[in-house]
Amino acid sequence: MINFKKEIAQKIAKVTNLNEKELEKYIEVPPNSDLGDYAFPCFKLAKDLRKAPPMIANDIKENIEIDKNIIERIDVVGGYLNIFINKATLVETVLEEISKSNEKYGASNIGEGKTAVIEYSSPNIAKPFHIGHLRTTVIGGALYKIYNFLGYKTIGINYLGDWGLQFGKVIAGISLWKDEYDFENDEMGSILKTYIRFNKEEKENPELTEMARDYFKKLENGEPEIVKQWEHIRKISIDNYQKTYKLLNSKFDSYNGEAYYNDKMEPIVKELIEKGLLKESQGAKVVDLEEYDMPPCIVITSAGTTIYATRDLAALKDRINKYDFDKLIYVVGNEQQLHFKQVFKVMELMGYEKYVARCTHVPFGLVVDKEGEKIGSRKGNSVFLEDILNEAIDKVKDIINEKNSELQDKDEIAKKIGVGAIIFNDLANSRIKDEVFDWDTILNFQGETGPYIQYIYVRTRSILNKAGYTPKLKEIDYNMLKEKEAIEILKIIYMFSETIQNAADKNEPSILARYLIDLSQSFSSFYNEHKIITDDESIQNARLYLTYAVGTVLKTGAELLGMEMPERM
Ligand code: ARG
Repeated sequence: MINFKKEIAQKIAKVTNLNEKELEKYIEVPPNSDLGDYAFPCFKLAKDLRKAPPMIANDIKENIEIDKNIIERIDVVGGYLNIFINKATLVETVLEEISKSNEKYGASNIGEGKTAVIEYSSPNIAKPFHIGHLRTTVIGGALYKIYNFLGYKTIGINYLGDWGLQFGKVIAGISLWKDEYDFENDEMGSILKTYIRFNKEEKENPELTEMARDYFKKLENGEPEIVKQWEHIRKISIDNYQKTYKLLNSKFDSYNGEAYYNDKMEPIVKELIEKGLLKESQGAKVVDLEEYDMPPCIVITSAGTTIYATRDLAALKDRINKYDFDKLIYVVGNEQQLHFKQVFKVMELMGYEKYVARCTHVPFGLVVDKEGEKIGSRKGNSVFLEDILNEAIDKVKDIINEKNSELQDKDEIAKKIGVGAIIFNDLANSRIKDEVFDWDTILNFQGETGPYIQYIYVRTRSILNKAGYTPKLKEIDYNMLKEKEAIEILKIIYMFSETIQNAADKNEPSILARYLIDLSQSFSSFYNEHKIITDDESIQNARLYLTYAVGTVLKTGAELLGMEMPERM
């Protein structure tokens, strides 16, 4: 595909003798296409060229040698160059690329030979897999697919919280109340009930806490009976999570969680000692980080046990050896910001700065209700992720039964729409913001939602079906796509690859989510203004091809977010 930005930067570099790559970064896309398809702010050059921006703009315009096939016209407005690209070339380059790559359109090989490790989901076993883990699962899943599409070798790690005092609690609880719950028929539910009850009762009864500690100690010491129980609880939990992962289409290459690092902590502690980094503080062993304005990183507690940070240090070291990654992305809530800063700093002090530079903590906000309150048990609404996904599916089924009860494969379609709606809602805004979870918004088929994108996609499919075929590119007269609305669509499609790369650079799937809304809306404006099926065959063919292109990009993009597209709805 022709790279318009690069072309512009090259030509400006020739006139100004400035660095082409730098210049390319300055190129903007104006909010309104009357101001050009691209704009170049000359303010950025004022310092280098020692001239006023409007003068620079005029100079460039006067001396630039443009290829009319690529750049149609340049206007000077104040300190800006407003650049209009050749629309016929745009149409041709986009449609040819689509016809060449189809569902691979937008993919790239910038990640070739590189490994991106993405750690996400990572629920805490024995505790409920609740809505709190929706975001990491969805954001991480999208990044996993996006990096893959960019040519990276991707490794998805589910760093299960499968070690810790919570097991002591559950095992103690089971020993006390085994007969009070239906472990036979509903093991997972009973485990959760036990855990919740234990937490409640332990507040009034400190002996319970002691008991949990004892059990956990037995587990740490490897007492076979207890280890067996732990293994069983872990297995039941993972099996149970699979139902949620299946609904969300989440894939992992490794389930190495915290427990996996039990025997890998001793070496890292030793290494810390050898490197002179561990010091004694109030009975604990810590790495002092005062110099970096952080509280000390506790490695061994005063009770002599390892903790969360110890395991993360061991895990990072292990991943360095195992994957020799180019990127290691931790998709974990914002409240663990400090934890990751500490872990990264300690690894840096140990001499792994080269790898730490490749690590990123990708934080995100909470899930809140319309009133801004964190979604939890207080209001009695369901908080288990699986239940919420099923609720979404049921709600969509109701809508379908009401509006289109004849639809075939209702269940399958309701699943795609319901789950897609939840996924899209999670990714629709920048991740650091709290996600508002409100059914009316999530399932609004007219809003900026997953169902809306699916609806537009289905629209493109039904138009093509109605016409009876997908047109071949060689039958298309590019001159038939001239309308403002058609050009707008093509410009958006042209930006697809850049958008995906941008989403990866910022680890921000919302950039792609917004893009899909823009594309859907622009297609909607197009078919509100122009008939696609018409008597004029050459117009119809061109518009059908455009319709095909929109559908293709919507599908590819939505799937990168983890959604599935229904063919009918
Ligand atoms: N299990 C943790 C939690 O649910 C998240 C794990 C984050 N990853 C890490 N490497 N510490 O809070």
